[in-house]
Amino acid sequence: MPASSDFFGQRSAQAVLKHGVLTRYAHYFAGRAGSATQGRVAFIDGYAGEGRYQDGSPGSPLLLASQAIRVQMFGRDVKLAFVERDADRRQELRQSLAEAEIEPDQLLGGDFDEVVDGLLDRYTLHAVLVFVDPFGLAVDRSTLERVLRRRSPTQPIDVLYHFSLSTVARMGRAGVVEGATTRYNAARLDAALGPIGWRDDFERATAPNAPTEAALVVARRFGESVRRATGLQSTLVSVRQRPGQLPEYLLMLFSANQKAHWDFADQASKAYVDWLYHCDREDYDANVRLREEHGLIELFASAEPNKEDIDYQLCRDAAAYLPDHLIEVLRDRGSLRPVDAVEDVYGEMMGRARVMHVRAAIKHLHHAGLTDDDGTREFWNGCGSAGGTDQAACGMTPSA
Ligand SMILES: C[S@@+](CC[C@H](N)C(=O)[O-])C[C@H]1O[C@@H](n2cnc3c(N)ncnc32)[C@H](O)[C@@H]1O
Repeated sequence: MPASSDFFGQRSAQAVLKHGVLTRYAHYFAGRAGSATQGRVAFIDGYAGEGRYQDGSPGSPLLLASQAIRVQMFGRDVKLAFVERDADRRQELRQSLAEAEIEPDQLLGGDFDEVVDGLLDRYTLHAVLVFVDPFGLAVDRSTLERVLRRRSPTQPIDVLYHFSLSTVARMGRAGVVEGATTRYNAARLDAALGPIGWRDDFERATAPNAPTEAALVVARRFGESVRRATGLQSTLVSVRQRPGQLPEYLLMLFSANQKAHWDFADQASKAYVDWLYHCDREDYDANVRLREEHGLIELFASAEPNKEDIDYQLCRDAAAYLPDHLIEVLRDRGSLRPVDAVEDVYGEMMGRARVMHVRAAIKHLHHAGLTDDDGTREFWNGCGSAGGTDQAACGMTPSA
């Protein structure tokens, strides 16, 4: 991750994935949740940044604004609220918005923590999507829970939350190793994560990649603990700088709507294709520049990256992995409603494979006589077979 002062220079590959997820989910949220509030929707970008990167790429405020315009087509009226604590960045943001002719409902300074309640008061009777995208540690656990608990039938609230694995890994180790900052780091983590017993994980994490792996375990426990406290489940998507690297952070969706989690996984996987393409494109362009600089001629020029090839390879990977994986999940569980177990359904392909790949795998299993479900219709409710529409009674089962 670049130092925070360089952050708005060139948009990083991981920001491409983050923005791909945010854009898709915001659009979807306005459609789904906005139907319960007569079209009234609010997007709160709690850590808004400058609005645009110096390379011209839009940041989260402009992306949310473009979705707000798009969803007007189907009767949604979206209020935009941006919070940016840093005065210089807030000024940049004001200018980026003005240049794009976007008038936010609110553009606030101060700490997100301190202004979020006022914003939620302002948007009662709206469906509210809150984006929490800080540098490093996000809001305290108590603030997150306070926001989630405010949801009601007339004010559905979803939170898309950046969980920084690299920060939690660094602070987690520093919080258990004796040193000048031990207490400070431990206290910050206690406040951010709540009472989830993170210390043992980091005491054991002495190998080079172990702190990030411990942070992943802690993130899952955090999600589970928030679910127990608020009733809202979370779905995690990993964000990496480059394929093959450890994830830098997670995007966690907190939503009371079960189908939203299922659809979020599909949206994240579409954003994954954008990200792979971006990485391939950067590598390809760097290669071309290098050859030009050195006057090299390639006998067999490498093909330009394209999304069709990436998609084709993903389909092959999913077809090789998902059928066997799903049979194992079915055997373990006995019966499965995919929408109840999003991360189990995708397994190692979470955030990469899409609903169409799961459907194809279930059809494949059905043809082979290995499951009752035929993968048609709303198979995610476990109702894919020609039979029932009674969702409570539905569930995919292995064939006898
Ligand atoms: C990672 S950047 C945001 C990037 C932006 N969401 C995007 O995707 O384009 C985090 C921003 O949050 C701001 N910030 C940090 N702490 C904050 C706080 N407590 N309240 C509001 N803004 C904060 C920083 O100044 C920085 O501009």
